[in-house]
Amino acid sequence: MKSVVVGASAGLGRALAEELAERGHALVLIASDQQDLDPLARDLALRFDVEVAPVAFDLLSVDPAAVRDAAVGALGTIDNLFLIAGLSTSEDAGPLPDALAGQLINLNFTAAVRVINAFLPDLENNPAGNIVGIGSVAAARGRRNNSVYASAKRGLEFYFETLRHHLARHSCRTQFYRMGYIDTGMTLGQALPFPAIPPQLAARKICNNLGRDQGMVYMPAWWFAIMTVLKFLPWVIFRKLNI
Ligand SMILES: NC(=O)c1ccc[n+]([C@@H]2O[C@H](COP(=O)([O-])OP(=O)(O)OC[C@H]3O[C@@H](n4cnc5c(N)ncnc54)[C@H](OP(=O)(O)O)[C@@H]3O)[C@@H](O)[C@H]2O)c1
Repeated sequence: MKSVVVGASAGLGRALAEELAERGHALVLIASDQQDLDPLARDLALRFDVEVAPVAFDLLSVDPAAVRDAAVGALGTIDNLFLIAGLSTSEDAGPLPDALAGQLINLNFTAAVRVINAFLPDLENNPAGNIVGIGSVAAARGRRNNSVYASAKRGLEFYFETLRHHLARHSCRTQFYRMGYIDTGMTLGQALPFPAIPPQLAARKICNNLGRDQGMVYMPAWWFAIMTVLKFLPWVIFRKLNI
C-alpha cells in the first residue's frame, strides 16, 4: 500500500506514519518543516524497510497540485490520503486577530478540502483507496471556546459527508473522525476535563478501519455519550456553562 500523511511530523500524524510503516506502507510524509521530516523518514525507512519520502509544504500557502504531483512523483500511485494537520489556539474565544482567524480556517478546512480535491482524480477509482479526515468533538455544538477552530472542523466534517456521497459511485472509501483529546503537543499543559488517549492508539484504530465505508464516528466512542448530552442540553442551561 502507498500512503500520504499530511501533518506527519508530530502528534497523531507522526504516530500514524509509524503505524503505517510498521504495516509495510510506502509513505509520503508532509509537514511544513523539512528538518522535522528528514530524521523521521530516515528512522522509519531503516526500522521498517519501507520507502519514505519527506516533502515539506506549508499548507497555509500551498498549491494543492504541487502536493499531489510530489506525492505521485514519489510513489507512482496513491492508495491512502490522511488529512491530519490541524491548528487550535486558546486565543480562539471571542475576537481574535484576523490573521489568526484566517490560519485556523485555512489549515483546518480550506487547505484540507483543496488537497483532497487535487488527489480525488487519482483516488476515486482505486478499489484499495481511502481518504481519512480528522475532525473534533469541538464541532458537536457551538460554544464560546474554540469558536473558529470548531466551525472549520464542522465545515470539514460536512465536506467529508459530501465526499462519502460522491464516492458511493466509485470504489475509494472515506472515514472521518470526531476526535476527542489526544496526548500531543496540541493538548500539552492543558487541564482537560476528560482523559486524552495516546496518539499511537488512535493511529492503530484509524489503520484498522481502512477499507470501511464510514461516515463520521467519535474516537474514542465514549465521546458520543458526552457530546449527545451536551448537544441536547436545553439552551437555558447550556448558555451558563463555562466550556
Ligand atoms: N490533540 C487533540 O487533543 C485533538 C483533539 C481533537 C482533534 N484533534 C485533531 O487531530 C489532528 C492532529 O492533531 P495533533 O494533536 O496530532 O496536532 P499536532 O501535534 O499539533 O501536529 C500537527 C501536525 O500538522 C502539521 N502542520 C501544522 N501546521 C502545518 C502547516 N501550516 N503546513 C503543514 N503542516 C502543518 C505539524 O507539523 P509542522 O507544524 O512542523 O508543519 C504537525 O505535523 C488535528 O487535525 C487536530 O485538530 C486533535
